[in-house]
Amino acid sequence: MKKNYFSELETLLDNSSAPYSGFNVASVVVCKDGRVFKGVNVESAAYPTTICAERNAIFTAVAEGISKGDIQEVHIGARNADKQLVTAQPCGSCRQVIAEQSLNDCIVYSYQSETEYSENTIATLLPFAFLGEEL
Ligand code: THU
Repeated sequence: MKKNYFSELETLLDNSSAPYSGFNVASVVVCKDGRVFKGVNVESAAYPTTICAERNAIFTAVAEGISKGDIQEVHIGARNADKQLVTAQPCGSCRQVIAEQSLNDCIVYSYQSETEYSENTIATLLPFAFLGEEL
């Protein structure tokens, strides 16, 4: 980890829009050239329309011009409906997008606190990933 993003994530959690679940998620994506992109989960009354924090950050990074393979780290913070900070691992859909956009070599940090966090490669989180090479 080049930098600990816990305090940024904690601030960013206040921008999450999760009126239905009460579960706030924030994500910071760090690229190999140092560029940083932020995302929060945004829920919808049409539930499946909800977007996760990680994909929101990555899709913003793509819109801002990053290329596949640029993503080096994904940092995740979460707060439950009781306002407790909890560890959140990326959902399956986010794992797929992280694997594809990082060319499967990124590290995912899920924070419980500033000093407690899990650190896993995306290849560990999504083994035998479908990366589209067969398309
Ligand atoms: N959520 C994320 O933002 N990222 C994840 O990896 C897991 C789930 C959001 C989606 C929804 O708004 C809320 O958490 C509860 O599922």
